Amino acid sequence: MIDLHIHILPGLDDGPPNMAESLDMARHAAAGGIKAVVATPHVAPGLYNNNRVSILQALQHFRAQLQAHEIPMAVHSGAEYLLDPDLPRLIKEQQILTLGDGGRYLLVEFPTAEIPVFAEQVLFEIALLGVTPVLAHPERNAELLRSPGKLLPFVERGVLCQGTAASFTGKLGTRVQQLAHHYLRHGCYQFISSDAHGAVNRKPELQAACTVIQAYDPNAAGLLTADNPQRLLQGQAPTRLPSWPDQEQPNKSLWHSLWGKITGRK
Ligand SMILES: [Fe+2]
Repeated sequence: MIDLHIHILPGLDDGPPNMAESLDMARHAAAGGIKAVVATPHVAPGLYNNNRVSILQALQHFRAQLQAHEIPMAVHSGAEYLLDPDLPRLIKEQQILTLGDGGRYLLVEFPTAEIPVFAEQVLFEIALLGVTPVLAHPERNAELLRSPGKLLPFVERGVLCQGTAASFTGKLGTRVQQLAHHYLRHGCYQFISSDAHGAVNRKPELQAACTVIQAYDPNAAGLLTADNPQRLLQGQAPTRLPSWPDQEQPNKSLWHSLWGKITGRK
């Protein structure tokens, strides 16, 4: 598996505070079947003032440490950008760090509480520059939790979606889990990643989500966690999943299943 979204570089954001924890994260990921990751520290002006140069420097140092500690993990470059009207300018000036530094796919996130008013315009401008936005964890956005259909215009315009693994297993709460499964059943996701932040909490794990997703389709988990991330790193478009809008969420509790049968709600 390849983890496309992980905060593993030390001291750059709210991820691991030091190199020892970064290395523990890599060991944990490798033990769980993750052979490569894309390090995606936050870039959010005023909060996490990382940039292309500082991230690449930190990455180089981390790779050397992995080698020194004989941890079998490939680390690609990347970043997670808070959606900002300045992003098209950064792309034009080649100051951006796309996923795998391939120049084609950019990981962006909305603020947790809302969809910014400029979102459609800025994502459109990014696409016009030949860069495809990959929207991180839409299932965790408060506005989308209230109004799931607001994701549709973005998907229709070619924005790709990356779900957080823990969203599917219920670790991030029932509402997030339900929305993750709703979007999955409607074929919205191309990638599932850990969005891990540490070696103790929010650890780099994909397997539990894969087990849940395989209940829909035996090929889906491999596509979302291995094949599509690999294609992205090779500059190829991801394969789209079919949708299964009528299937029942596989890991619902007995209570939710009964409640669904009583109320007709999924
Ligand atoms: Fe993240």
